[in-house]
Amino acid sequence: MAKTAELIIDGKSYTFPIVVGSEGEQGIDISNLLESTGTVTLDFGYKNTGATKSAITFLDGDKGILRYRGYSIEDLADKSSFLEVSYLLIFGDLPSPEQLTKFTTDIKNHTMVHEDIKKILDGFPSTSHPMGVLASLFCAQTAFYPEALDPNRAAEGVYLSMIRSLAKMPTFAAWAFKNAVGHPVNYPDNSLDYCSRFLKMMFALPAEDFEIDPVVSSALDKLLILHADHEQNCSTSTVRIVGSSKASIYSSISAGINALWGPLHGGANQEVILMLEQIKKDGGDTDKWINKAKDKNDPFRLMGFGHRVYKNFDPRAKIIKKAADDVLEKLGVNDPTLEIARKLEEVALRDPYFIERKLYPNVDFYSGIIYRALGIPVDMFTVMFAIGRLPGWIAQWKELRENKEPIGRPRQIYTGANFRPYVALDKR
Ligand code: ACO
Repeated sequence: MAKTAELIIDGKSYTFPIVVGSEGEQGIDISNLLESTGTVTLDFGYKNTGATKSAITFLDGDKGILRYRGYSIEDLADKSSFLEVSYLLIFGDLPSPEQLTKFTTDIKNHTMVHEDIKKILDGFPSTSHPMGVLASLFCAQTAFYPEALDPNRAAEGVYLSMIRSLAKMPTFAAWAFKNAVGHPVNYPDNSLDYCSRFLKMMFALPAEDFEIDPVVSSALDKLLILHADHEQNCSTSTVRIVGSSKASIYSSISAGINALWGPLHGGANQEVILMLEQIKKDGGDTDKWINKAKDKNDPFRLMGFGHRVYKNFDPRAKIIKKAADDVLEKLGVNDPTLEIARKLEEVALRDPYFIERKLYPNVDFYSGIIYRALGIPVDMFTVMFAIGRLPGWIAQWKELRENKEPIGRPRQIYTGANFRPYVALDKR
């Protein structure tokens, strides 16, 4: 028998269907709540609200499970590649060898960006944060490909926009970095794979040979896989809500990049390194900083700790911690902040404050340490996250479109002044 939920308001009972997902998770379908009861739900931060049905990513925060299209993050991080995972997220199944070759070639064919985009880049001062530059350049594609503004265009056109997005993202990202350091930009070298191409655009200097270190390139590929999707998080929900107004893929994703930028979301990886540096400079007393994080009168939070949905452990953090050890060892990097990170984790995991609140290291706690070992500057950490999250945003935008979802428009409980007559300026 189909499950239902009963809600009693002022003594009157209302029944709502319960929707059950493919992994057994349940949601009370309140689509007609307002119509039938005259009330709405109130849920700050959408902590209990399912905004959509999605077949892309499954996560179980209590058990620490994360799967893309049914495949475990552990398997994908170990055996797959970022472009294969991108295909999987966007199209729903692992590609055949032919499909992957076509997808990879299509991406290679679109890595160049219009020269006029460089003029836009030149307008940014070198003090600009690369995330702001990235969001702007990404959105600027609406000007160069105005056909993408048509929400009803044919599937080939939508495919091309998705390919362009994936192809140009590393170019925009590397150029945002070059702008920040005041260097001339590098053009994409299509003889290289996705990550190596990005690294060359980031680090190659004119008239110098640039050798790709396979350790760096494959570590980066793994990091991108770990960030590729995470169901209805802040930036993805932003992409979906902007996309729901039938805005173009470029403007929807640009909005997602901006949402990711905040320190409580993708910006946390940058904040973690800044925090570890600060603790190191302060003498490395981890107990002191743990106490600060627990003090409700102190705004300091332990960055890289806690997660809205993972209340046991973040499976990505486990993989990243091991990857950080491997990469640092292979590259021969001795990073003292890693020691501080380990100490913080050890102390926090034994402390009742963190245990009671189920605060564990999240994906960002160790990713910054790897990025730094790979030579990526701190300001670029969140940009790296954005490169990784791009296929997820694309897949979610595509799903929203295919499901013909209505425009996102939450309600509110108004708490302002009641009606009052306007008072003319000279009477106030
Ligand atoms: N350090 C110290 N205390 C914390 C931390 C932290 N990092 N995170 C949560 N808490 C405490 C809160 O003060 C609160 O305590 P209280 O119940 O005594 O008031 C309790 O734990 C619950 O915290 P909320 O902020 O209500 O939890 P929420 O689910 O809203 O926030 C968030 C999750 C934003 C990730 C939070 O844990 C945080 O700010 N962490 C640090 C930033 C961070 O690492 N963000 C990256 C998240 S992962 C990602 O986006 C990829």
